[in-house]
Amino acid sequence: MDIKKAFLKQLAVSEGEYISGAALARNMNVSRNAVWKTVKSLENDGFLIESVTSKGYRLSEHNNKLNEEIIKSFEKSDRNIIVLNEVDSTNDYAKKLASQNAENGTAVIADRQTAGKGRMGRNFVSPSGCGVYISIITRPKFGIETASLITSAAACAVANAVENLCGERVNVKWVNDLYMNGKKICGILTEASMGLEMKSLDYAVIGIGVNVRKNYEFDDELRQRASSIEECTGRKIDRNRLCAEILRQTDIYLENIESREYLREYRRREILTGHKITANTGNTCIEGIAEGIDDNANLIVRLSDGKIMHLGSGEANLCRFAE
Ligand code: BTN
Repeated sequence: MDIKKAFLKQLAVSEGEYISGAALARNMNVSRNAVWKTVKSLENDGFLIESVTSKGYRLSEHNNKLNEEIIKSFEKSDRNIIVLNEVDSTNDYAKKLASQNAENGTAVIADRQTAGKGRMGRNFVSPSGCGVYISIITRPKFGIETASLITSAAACAVANAVENLCGERVNVKWVNDLYMNGKKICGILTEASMGLEMKSLDYAVIGIGVNVRKNYEFDDELRQRASSIEECTGRKIDRNRLCAEILRQTDIYLENIESREYLREYRRREILTGHKITANTGNTCIEGIAEGIDDNANLIVRLSDGKIMHLGSGEANLCRFAE
């Protein structure tokens, strides 16, 4: 392991406690001078490290630079994590890795995306230093029926992760938009590759984009609908910690997905139910009352003629003037 990685790992496992230069030098088997040089080099890279004479070094709680060693130590895992300063789309990067046999659980995280992808062909605003853009490769052992639950299970996982770190209630708008105080703070785009037999998934890439900091430059239209955790709560949560918590929660929800128990939580969080909505199902637009979520995470909609539809994919929105 290179010295910078080893140093960051030491700081991360000391969990906010100072660790002396002597202890660092001993643990990494390098000189005190090498420790000092590493600190300077990491500061140059943008890491915020506090140093206090007679105490040593620690990672500042204001550090905003993403790093795989820090994330792994927060998650207490040894999964394969790739952190990039910049990429077109973490989903595209992860799909490439998956097609080259990257293992289950591999995560690709970027500080900035130049062509972040949203659902329905939209782009996902992904500036540097502001959000968490993360794609997780999963190689499900379950069949195709269960695979269609991945996105809704991931929505619950991320909602839990965000709530655990900031203490503010997170709602879900079917299928997978996360809302805080009535505004969208996270979107999820799952892309899958089928196995040859078409009975199972070869892999799925779960792409999660969370708006964390408040300095987003949304256009006027987006500003009406979108916000960030910091804007909603006034809290500056640690992006490395959020990545770790998202990875931890996603593992838990995927492991238990076949029981479908998470659907009870999903229904509690879901905000369209009980309201008049419009839904775009790909080629048609429908209007009706959202009656709930069925056992396959489909949205149940009652049309004006009384007919019931179960929507498996698409996008639905509240009818603003007819609620
Ligand atoms: C949506 O709201 O329409 C879904 C947005 C999904 C954005 C995430 S950010 C990480 C991953 N990489 C992408 O290009 N998109 C997803």
